[in-house]
Formats: sequence, structure tokens, C-alpha cells
Amino acid sequence: MKVGVIGSGGREHAICISLKKSKNIDKIYCFPGNAGTSFIAENIEIDLNNFEELKRVIEELGIDIIIVGPEKPLVDGIVDFLEQNKIKVFGPDRVSSQLEGSKIFTKNLCKKYNIPTAKFGVFNTIQDSLSFLSECKFPIVVKADGLAAGKGVYICETHDQSKKAVEEIFNGKFGEAKQILIEEFLKGEEMSFFIISDGISYKIFGTAQDHKRALEGDKGKNTGGMGAYSPSRLESEKLEKKIIEKIIEPTLKGLKEIKNKFRGFLYAGLMIVDEEPFLIEYNVRMGDPECQTILPRLKTDFLDIVVATVNEDLKNINLEWFEDKSICVVLASKGYPDEFKNNSEIKGLKEIKLQDNEYIFHAGTKVNNSKIYSNGGRVLNFVIKSDNLKIGRDKAISLINKLNWQNGYFRKDIGYKIIS
Ligand code: AMP
Ligand code: GLY
Repeated sequence: MKVGVIGSGGREHAICISLKKSKNIDKIYCFPGNAGTSFIAENIEIDLNNFEELKRVIEELGIDIIIVGPEKPLVDGIVDFLEQNKIKVFGPDRVSSQLEGSKIFTKNLCKKYNIPTAKFGVFNTIQDSLSFLSECKFPIVVKADGLAAGKGVYICETHDQSKKAVEEIFNGKFGEAKQILIEEFLKGEEMSFFIISDGISYKIFGTAQDHKRALEGDKGKNTGGMGAYSPSRLESEKLEKKIIEKIIEPTLKGLKEIKNKFRGFLYAGLMIVDEEPFLIEYNVRMGDPECQTILPRLKTDFLDIVVATVNEDLKNINLEWFEDKSICVVLASKGYPDEFKNNSEIKGLKEIKLQDNEYIFHAGTKVNNSKIYSNGGRVLNFVIKSDNLKIGRDKAISLINKLNWQNGYFRKDIGYKIIS
């Protein structure tokens, strides 16, 4: 089969590596991909907002199936568009993608189906928001409604911080804002919980623990994720049962009641408070860097899973996993998530010889004249699968130390809650 992967991050490189191992793969195309994907797939530079052009290229290349990695094209309705044009595609449609595209859509679903989540209010003006905030206890969380690349969430310790957040959002920092969300701050431990669904049945697709803050000890700004390990240390049968019964099944039921089927990966960002799960947010895709830790643990042929999902045949697939754990350390450009420099050559990468169970997934990288350059905030993912997370993390860090690249930084403490 010829498979097209949309996206250019570490998640998409990990997807390509899993596809490459599949017995039925003939060729992989990446739209637009990165340096890592260019070694195993053909990268195609294209404007992902131009659906017509994308369709033309997919047809011309005879691609059998498209896998959509990131949220933006999903929320923009790429799945609906490709399906209308008889192209097979893995990912949720526009209506389902509102689970990620609109926090208020998800909050209203939670309210209707009694899904545990932080208490919240929706406000239409700066004035109303501020008068509500003047009577709140802090910390409190202020959120922009739509997609904001992980930046539209403010954890406010003081009234002044919350005022600034409300003003920034209503003044258009994340695009036009008609409404904002103010919610209770939940104190607990986060967990990323994944399922895969074909719209008829679903299966659990693993758990992971992300590390969103830029600096060690969970300090500094929120990022897309500086590292992860899988499975989450909180994973247990008892908790899984609660997540499924209280969160996942009511959500899928809610979508069915508006005549919608969820097809693809659903990622529940949870806060576990005293062994009870609360939904913080939904994403309608795999997590990044969570995907980079979960896919190496998968035994079952990934392309078989994708094809079965698109053909509504997931019930006939038996998902099998390796017993090993995995850990990912992200190497980012200095300055990320704020200003950072691109086009800095990463020396020593090609000389690294990986052993079994060691992976380097590229994210913000590009090749020029056989040299590899940085091309984004998060640049490389070092992933080790092993039965011991401490040994895994040490190995990941020793791989990073083999590079000759002065422009990067990483967290040495990924997994600190589980690694003593
Ligand atoms: P989100 O984009 O909604 O995932 O929020 C980004 C991060 O903000 C989450 O991963 C949490 O760490 C934090 N966060 C969001 N909402 C809450 C909340 N209600 N209570 C505590 N932390 C939160
Ligand atoms: N790792 C967080 C995310 O993918 O949204």
C-alpha cells in the first residue's frame, strides 16, 4: 500500500517508522515531513490549507490511505473533504474534532453527560469575566476557546494575572474571541489516556505521562511537551474502568446522539485527583511526545490497525503490546517556547549508531546538502524502550551527549516522579 502521512513532528516520524515495519507497506509520503522522514519516506512540500491541491497530489501519486497527525487540519475539516472525494483517511471528521477545536463544546458535553471535569463558567465580555473573578478563590484557570497551540491556557495565582489573561484573550491574542472559559484549578497528577475508535467499537491505545513545562522540576513555561514515559505510573485496572465508564463511553455516546461517529485516536488529557479521573481536555489525535513512547511498545502491525479503523473493522484486530516501558527525552532549541533560532547545523547525528530498542525521532529538522539543520522549537526525540526507565533515561541522555550541537536544551529529569 501507499500511505500518506500529514504532519512534520516527532509524532509523524514515529508513525512513519511504525508504518515502515508493516508487511503491507510499499511507499510512504509525508506532507511535508522533516529530515528524519525524508530518509524513509518521500517528503512533499505543500500548503496544508490548500485541500484541493492536496487532493490533486494524493490522486496523482495513487496514495491508498492518508493518516492525519496534527489537530489543525482535522479541525479544519480535512477528513470530510477527502472522504467526499473518495479518498480513504484515518482521523476524525470536523464535528468530532470540535472536542479539541472548542473547549466550550467539550465542556458542554461534559455537563450534559455528567462527565467529571473542573467546574467552569463561560463568559462573553471582559466586564462579566472580571466581575466573576473578583469573587473567586485562586489559583484559577483562564482559557481561550479555540486552538492555541498549547498557549491559550493561563494558570493564574492572583487576580492581576487573571485580569491580564482575560484581556489578552479578548484582545485577540489567539484570534477573535467571542467567549472565554474560566475554570476551577484541579490539583492532582496528569495522565494522557488514549483510545482508537472506528466509530463502531474502540480499543484502549495506552497511557503516558507528558512533561509540559520547559524546565526541570516542572518549572517554566508550558510547552508542547519536553518528554514523556509510557505507561503512566498511575495506570491500573481500577482507574481504567473509571476512565472508560465516566469519561470515554459517555463522550462516544454524546457524539452518537448528534449522529456522529468518532474515528481515529482520541486522547483524553486527565487530572487524577485522589484516584478519581477528571477530564482536563480532549485532543483528537495522538499526543506528541506521547506517541513517540507508545508506538515503539506496539507489537501489532500498525498499518493493519489503521486500515481496520478506516474500514470500521477494528473489532477484528487484537492489539498486542511489549511488556517494556519507554521513555522520551525531547531536545529543543534554546529559547523555546519563546523566540529561538532556526537553521543551526546539528553535527554528529548521522554518526550515532542506534541499538535495538533505541530510536531518534526527528521533529523540527531539515536536510540541506546532506547536512541536518534545526527547523523548529522541538527538534529531536530520544526514545529508549527497556524494562527500566532509569536505564532508559540515562541511555537517552548519553545519545544526546554524543551530538555536537550548542543550540539545544533538554530536561534531565523526565520521569522524575517514577524514577527515584
Ligand atoms: P490544556 O491545553 O487544556 O491541556 O491545558 C494545558 C495544561 O494546563 C494542562 O496540561 C494542565 O497542566 C493545565 N491545566 C489546564 N486546566 C487545568 C485545570 N482546570 N486545573 C489544573 N491544571 C490545568
Ligand atoms: N503532549 C501534549 C499534546 O500532544 O497535546
